[in-house]
Amino acid sequence: MRVIGLMSGTSYDAVDAAAADLERGAEDGVLRLVPLGMVSEPYPADVREALAAALPPATTTLAEVCRLDTRIGQAFAALASRADRELCAGRAELIASHGQTVYHWAEEGRVHGTLQLGEPAWIAERSGCPVVSGFRPRDVAAGGQGAPLVSLIDLMLLRGRPGVPAALNIGGIANVTVLPAGGDPLAFDTGPGNALIDAAVRELSSGKRAYDAEGALAAAGRVHEGLLERLLSEEPYYRIPPPRTTGKELFHAGYLRARLAGLGELRPQDLVATLTRLTARTVADALRPLAATEVFVSGGGVRNPALMAMLREELGSAAVRGSQELGLPAGAKEAYAFAVLGYLSLHGLPGNDPGCTGAAGPRVLGSLTPGSRPLRLPAPAGRAPHALTVGAPPGGTPPG
Ligand SMILES: Nc1ncnc2c1ncn2[C@@H]1O[C@H](COP(=O)(O)OP(=O)(O)O)[C@@H](O)[C@H]1O
Ligand SMILES: [Mg+2]
Repeated sequence: MRVIGLMSGTSYDAVDAAAADLERGAEDGVLRLVPLGMVSEPYPADVREALAAALPPATTTLAEVCRLDTRIGQAFAALASRADRELCAGRAELIASHGQTVYHWAEEGRVHGTLQLGEPAWIAERSGCPVVSGFRPRDVAAGGQGAPLVSLIDLMLLRGRPGVPAALNIGGIANVTVLPAGGDPLAFDTGPGNALIDAAVRELSSGKRAYDAEGALAAAGRVHEGLLERLLSEEPYYRIPPPRTTGKELFHAGYLRARLAGLGELRPQDLVATLTRLTARTVADALRPLAATEVFVSGGGVRNPALMAMLREELGSAAVRGSQELGLPAGAKEAYAFAVLGYLSLHGLPGNDPGCTGAAGPRVLGSLTPGSRPLRLPAPAGRAPHALTVGAPPGGTPPG
């Protein structure tokens, strides 16, 4: 089955679409993914601005939520159609849309709700394909964190590897999935990924720059130990036992401003170096007790060499590898993961790993919006696949 996965993370830098052919082995419990490539588009400038103005800690109105839901759905729809044309020869059969997270209602380690915008009707209307969307709430309703949902896919990719393999995604927030030898798998958000780095760069450049391009500022700066210590010791989130998840409701520009109070002038490069070290340190602190031996990294953070160098230092003997070594390019992994989650939902298969999200049990995730034809569901698959293998795309390495 040819599936398109659509994703925009908490950085809301761009909407990503990845296309894949997915086939389930009848006997062996293996799901086979052939990557067809990815396309990506930044949000239109006015949508991005409206989103930035509405996100916490700002307040907004239901009128604005309605406008955003529509405009984000339209942006996802436009990209899905492009992906169908350019990657699928117009033969996509299913679209899986994560939507845009605008609020993750987490309190003291429990998640009570999570809201993703991007009305799927726009995607179904424009592409003609059925759409699976709204993946997270079912896991929350079953007592889980609703995240990190990519953990199920990570586990399918990591199973069978020697030692203690882990997957790390560095988006706005950083999350890990760990498969301890003989122990139960674990997945959780470690804390900020790029969120605080981006917030600082945006403030320092009066909004002209959105991130520390190639980690240049961090590489030129020195870590301010006092600030680092304050950021680590004053944040209770890092001490909540897993499963735990967070979002930019916590790690935003105002959070950073409050932590900087009373420290005097910091050189911009020192501030960015300190925040970059904070991400590397909190990831390593989270992985150390689990004794991870190899870490497959994905997400936009991979494009920051200063962050990757600090991560290698902090992780010590654990091997730091790119997720492309598992077949999925760093910038496309999450979109591919949602394509797989959409496939699983359509086939009546669970999309959560309860041990990772904290849900009471495995659940079939999401809601289905019919495409241009009446909805025809495949017969529910019996056994859930335990492994995901990534095959070669037609013509070599997938783009992205
Ligand atoms: N060339 C680059 N140099 C440094 N950082 C980058 C670069 N490209 C992307 N990033 C970082 O990656 C982030 C986007 O990563 P992404 O995985 O898309 O996050 P999310 O899932 O939250 O959208 C950007 O906000 C930025 O911080
Ligand atoms: Mg992104």
